[in-house]
Amino acid sequence: MKKDYPLIKKQDRAIYETIVEETARQTEGLELIPSENYTSPAVMEAMGSVLTNKYSEGYAGKRYYNGNEFIDEIERTAIERAKKLFKVEHVNVQPYSGSPANLAVYLACCQPGDVVLGLNLPDGGHLTHGWKVSATGIFYRTLPYHVRKDGKIDIDEVRKLAKQHKPKLIWAGATAYEFKYDYSEFAKIADEVGAYLAVDIAHIAGLIIAGAHPDPVPHAHIVTTTTHKTLRGPRGGMIMVTKRGLKKDPDLASKVDKGVFPGLQGGPHDHQTAAIAIALKEAATPEFKRYGKQIVANAKALAKSLKKHGMTLVGGGTENHLLRIDVSPIYGPGGGIFGSDALEVAGMTANKNTVPNDPGTPFYPSGIRIGTPALTTRGMKEKEMEKVGEWIARAIKAVGTYHLPSDNKERAAYIAKFHADSRKNKELLKIREEIRKFTKKFPLPHEKKR
Ligand SMILES: Cc1ncc(COP(=O)(O)O)c(C=O)c1O
Repeated sequence: MKKDYPLIKKQDRAIYETIVEETARQTEGLELIPSENYTSPAVMEAMGSVLTNKYSEGYAGKRYYNGNEFIDEIERTAIERAKKLFKVEHVNVQPYSGSPANLAVYLACCQPGDVVLGLNLPDGGHLTHGWKVSATGIFYRTLPYHVRKDGKIDIDEVRKLAKQHKPKLIWAGATAYEFKYDYSEFAKIADEVGAYLAVDIAHIAGLIIAGAHPDPVPHAHIVTTTTHKTLRGPRGGMIMVTKRGLKKDPDLASKVDKGVFPGLQGGPHDHQTAAIAIALKEAATPEFKRYGKQIVANAKALAKSLKKHGMTLVGGGTENHLLRIDVSPIYGPGGGIFGSDALEVAGMTANKNTVPNDPGTPFYPSGIRIGTPALTTRGMKEKEMEKVGEWIARAIKAVGTYHLPSDNKERAAYIAKFHADSRKNKELLKIREEIRKFTKKFPLPHEKKR
């Protein structure tokens, strides 16, 4: 199935051309952002279907608009599939994305001003786990816990903060974390202080389904996820309530549903719901389980290759789908920008990221975050990861002479010169060409013959 967008081409040349360019970028480069993936043609078909035309405020059987007979069926199917796949008691599939899903959990479990614990953002936590500029940090009294020097969550600090401040809600989960979670310890702490335990599995949902990461469902009261990362569906979010959750609070399912609608959202995106249902069916196959296990095998192989080529990794490696390179030994404090931009010129997309005890800032962090979900979808295995690690290391070293000026005023001019120079860097352009040839052997899902 080739996607060539004939109608957009005819009607809106400007948008058509950018889609074509973006398609080439996604096809000819290596996608290393651990929260991204390539979804299936069936999921994309649902996203472009007539379902986008419908309004369905409310829930199946209790809508505010007429004409929802078929939408109800779609939403019920998505819910049943999610319940079976994650082995949970209740699912809400309406959150527009991961951030609104998490905000709805606050509405379900807390009053404004209540205390909430979450992993500090520079330590790998997500904005919605209470970072100060997020609505979650503005409307709730959020207290951050941290990782230790070895990059692992400081569970003693979680217990200490919980005992001292008696939170209503504790978040486990992260956006940049390489290790498995000790969910049973989080559950014990939550029980000790009477808090709800919400586990955000946005990054690792696909790994959990595949049995490649521990399952939080027996321990958590609530589990939230995005549907577009390792789960490989459309952009979207889900909130799940577990048996433990209903035992703690029999009203939790209805509180969650009320948190989503009318608490936070209006009409659900029905095309997205159908696409989520399709992705959940795909995720229930043995093939998907193999995929999830291969993501982790690939991340470990990539870590090995990067270390062999002289890179320093946070925590020394990875137990899941992502890893972070600490580039401060190469560029000094705050130099992640040089590495992530060099990768981009060389045809690899990653993002600059904080590392534990970062000597830089969240905007100028000292690390680069990379992951294997998208490369694994393209069919790459351990052998290819060896090569990818070598390309990453070569690109990072190719601009190894750059250091972020400590004087704020000097930075803009220095970075502008770096941008201009890096785009002419012969080594980076050579890698880009090597990658362009290499990616031809690994078609995207929509390019494969069916
Ligand atoms: C752990 C975690 N939770 C929630 C989100 C938010 O998802 P979204 O960007 O879909 O709002 C993300 C996004 O990166 C995430 O990493």
